[in-house]
Amino acid sequence: MSFPLIRPRRLRTTAGLRRMVRETSLSPDDFIYPLFVVEGRGRREPIASLAGQCHLSPDLAAQEAKAAFDLGIPAVILFGLPERKDASGSEAWAEEGVVQQAVRAIKQAAPELLVICDVCLCEYTDHGHCGLLKGETVDNDSTLPLLARTAVSQARAGADLVAPSDMMDGRVGAIRLALDEAGLSQVAIMAYSAKYASAFYGPFREAAQSAPSFGDRKAYQMDPANAREALKEVSLDIEEGADMVMVKPALPYLDVIRRVRESCHLPLAAYSVSGEYAMIKTAAEHGLLDGQAAMLECLTAIKRAGADMIITYFAPEAAGLLG
Ligand code: PBG
Repeated sequence: MSFPLIRPRRLRTTAGLRRMVRETSLSPDDFIYPLFVVEGRGRREPIASLAGQCHLSPDLAAQEAKAAFDLGIPAVILFGLPERKDASGSEAWAEEGVVQQAVRAIKQAAPELLVICDVCLCEYTDHGHCGLLKGETVDNDSTLPLLARTAVSQARAGADLVAPSDMMDGRVGAIRLALDEAGLSQVAIMAYSAKYASAFYGPFREAAQSAPSFGDRKAYQMDPANAREALKEVSLDIEEGADMVMVKPALPYLDVIRRVRESCHLPLAAYSVSGEYAMIKTAAEHGLLDGQAAMLECLTAIKRAGADMIITYFAPEAAGLLG
């Protein structure tokens, strides 16, 4: 049986029918909102590279987080911009570090909102690489204790989840061990398992002042040409104790999201990164496309590919439309 008996358009005739047969739905529950925290009080400074996003001091990050929670968003992820950087990135694990302060303030303002802390050294090192340097290479094994120390200090401040984004080998295991030894076995790990060396991080690096001062991150982040390798990274992270895994970026890697979804049973996050956000925002500003429609279409595509949750700068805007 075929045309004219079968007419797929029949089920597209009305909004009601389209709604009835829709395979993928979006809700504020799906979103994780990234916040950029700076030192001080009362600071709210627009980020030039990310229209609509701001650098926030811990007190205002707490306000922003509470507003996100009120829109139905279940979680925020925090990035810190310290006043002082050094070769080892020691502000990353300072008890009074910006992120640690922000976690405490957010937990006070919105106790039920989940707080995720990005674990990486690139925002804290004076050279902008994600780990300790040995000559011009990022040394894997000596970086692990520093990442573990950072995760423990974030968890002590009250983080519900820690999310290592550095791409050192063995970091998930090192962090799990350190958390458990510190009596923090309830804190979960969301591993940036398949994180690619992507050009789409450009606006973030300006926002987080974390661009490497020399070279690039290709010796630790993944080659965009590889998908099987993503499955290897995911299974290693699971063996090391990851509670959730992630693919990053999202839009140029929908095939990877799908393959990871089919190969593992853990909750899967996708990070729709700064460049994805900036492309839509900039095209919309120039009147080239309908920004809201493009935003919802892309977020739907990421879910359709298999992501359970999406880290996105659009979180409040999308939640506002969907809620
Ligand atoms: C830290 C980190 C980066 C992003 C998230 N965590 C930048 C990088 O790896 O250079 C990028 C996020 C985005 O572009 O939105 N390592």
